[in-house]
Formats: sequence, structure tokens, C-alpha cells
Amino acid sequence: MRQHRLVLCTPDRVLSPVVESVWATIRHEAAGVVNREPVLARLIDGTVLHHDCFAESLIDCLTRRLAVPELDAWTLAEVFRCAFDDESALIDAAASDLQAIRDRDPACPDLLTPLLYFKGYQALQAHRITHQLWLQDKIHLARHLQSRVSEVFGIDIHPAARMGRGILIDHATGLVIGETAVVEDDVSILQGVTLGGTGKDTGDRHPKIRRGVLLGAGATVLGNIEVGEGAKVGAGSIVLSPVEPYTTVVGVPARPVGPRLTSPAALSMEQCMDMDQRLGAPPTGS
Ligand SMILES: CC(C)(COP(=O)(O)OP(=O)(O)OC[C@H]1O[C@@H](n2cnc3c(N)ncnc32)[C@H](O)[C@@H]1OP(=O)(O)O)[C@@H](O)C(=O)NCCC(=O)NCCS
Repeated sequence: MRQHRLVLCTPDRVLSPVVESVWATIRHEAAGVVNREPVLARLIDGTVLHHDCFAESLIDCLTRRLAVPELDAWTLAEVFRCAFDDESALIDAAASDLQAIRDRDPACPDLLTPLLYFKGYQALQAHRITHQLWLQDKIHLARHLQSRVSEVFGIDIHPAARMGRGILIDHATGLVIGETAVVEDDVSILQGVTLGGTGKDTGDRHPKIRRGVLLGAGATVLGNIEVGEGAKVGAGSIVLSPVEPYTTVVGVPARPVGPRLTSPAALSMEQCMDMDQRLGAPPTGS
């Protein structure tokens, strides 16, 4: 039995068109899955169809993963409802992130899949709530959630780190984002990325990742440096100095390669392998 109804979900409340459209699509996709794969009916019904708004469905998906006996799903859901009621932009951002994944991840055909199964998506939404708690000075609750997210998903984002919207965190395992890092809107991040300090500075010591950047798998960006808008960081690179906008950098330490990019790297997601598969290119090599 729920303690309070989300103000966000009361019938007279007008939600943003993005949230409305995302929720309608998710429900449609969920009904289709129940038809095609009835063995999943209980899961899909419990997490999606049973709910009357996107926020409650998201809360359900998160609390199922993050609850512990001492802070159970019911109590955690109340914490999350309060966060969403205090800051409805969290729900808008959660809807934008789903659209970003569907639009930019060639392995993701719909909105339902990341909501239910993608740990990068779920960890980011948990982080958004954690950040809100941190700003409200609920430091231990924020730390508890950061720790649960790290245990459950293998992703460690400091509660103070600032994340934009329309963010794709693909695969996500091993992602670490430090306290004073900023990740702006429309950034794409692959697995194993570190946005860390050099260990030599205190205070504002973490990277600033500007809008539309693509951070390849295993990229490490160290220090309070900017990766400029629309730039691309190659897999396994170690970035120790600022990256100009619309520039590709690779290697250890990272150096610029190739011509200036003509569109934000994160949006085109031209990472060779996946893009070729999407375009139906024949396999290369042996
Ligand atoms: C950097 C990247 C985007 C390619 O960008 P690009 O502009 O097409 O670059 P090119 O392939 O033309 O390579 C340019 C030069 O950089 C080198 N290079 C490319 N990627 C590199 C990398 N990750 N590390 C080191 N050098 C790299 C190439 O060997 C080439 O060197 P050369 O000029 O001496 O021959 C791509 O290699 C990459 O790392 N993508 C990330 C993909 C990813 O993380 N996939 C994980 C999917 S799960």
C-alpha cells in the first residue's frame, strides 16, 4: 500500500509532452511483449502496465534493484517519490535519456528495453535522485544510494557530479565519475570510462565534458580540463590536456587525429563496428 500519491502523477497535472509520449510508447511496447512472450507477463505487468505514470514505473524498476532489508523497496519508493515531487525535471531528464538511447544505440530497438534492463540507464536515474538528495544535504542517504548503485551496477558516480540530459551510458560496467565532474547534455559514454582527478589537485579537480561528446570504451580523462563540444575520445585513450571542440583525440597520452568533425560525435555514434552493423556492411577482415 503506497503512502502517498506522486503529485507529479495526479490526473490534473500536465506533464511535459516528452514524458507523455515516452510513457505512451512504453505501455504500447510492454503490451506487445506480453503478447509475444507471455512468460514475462508478471514482470512486465508489475513494472510497467500496472502503473499509471512513467515516474511510478521508473521508481519500481529502480527500487527492485536497489532495495536492501534495512531500506526496503517501499521506503525507498517513498524517498524517490519525494525527490520527483521536489524536482519534476528529473522525470523529464529520465524520459530524454530513454529517447537518447533508442536514437543512438544501434543495439536498442525501443524505449522499454533500457527502462527494464540497461544498467547504465538505471544507474543514471538513481544518480539523478542521489544528486538531489546531496543538494538537500541528505548526505548519508546519498552516499548509501551511491554505494548500492556501485554494488549492483558496477558504476560509481559521486553524488555531487553534475549530469545533463539526453545521456547514453552504453554497457556501463566500470564507469567512474568524480565529485566535481560535469557531463553536459547529449553526451555518449561507453564502458570503463573514468572522469577522475590527477591526484595532484584539490577542490574543483575533475573533467568538464561538454555537450555532444563521445567517450570511447576505457577512455580516461584526468584533471579539471574541458573536452570541448562535439569531440570524440578514442577507446583506451588517456586525456591529460584540454580537447578542442569537434576534435578526435586518441592514444596515451591522447593526441588529435583526423579532420575537424562536422557534427557532435555523441549523436552520430560513429564508432565503426556498431555503425557498420547497423548499415548492414559486410564483415571485414578474416
Ligand atoms: C577514435 C575512433 C573513434 C576512430 O576515429 P577516426 O577519426 O575514424 O580515426 P581513424 O580510425 O581514422 O584513426 C586515426 C588514427 O588514430 C589511430 N587510432 C584510432 N583509434 C585509436 C585508439 N582508440 N587508440 C589509439 N589510436 C587510435 C589510428 O590507428 C590512426 O592512426 P594513424 O593515423 O597513425 O594511422 C575509434 O578508433 C574509437 O576508438 N572509437 C571508440 C569505439 C568504442 O569505444 N567502441 C566500443 C564499443 S563496445
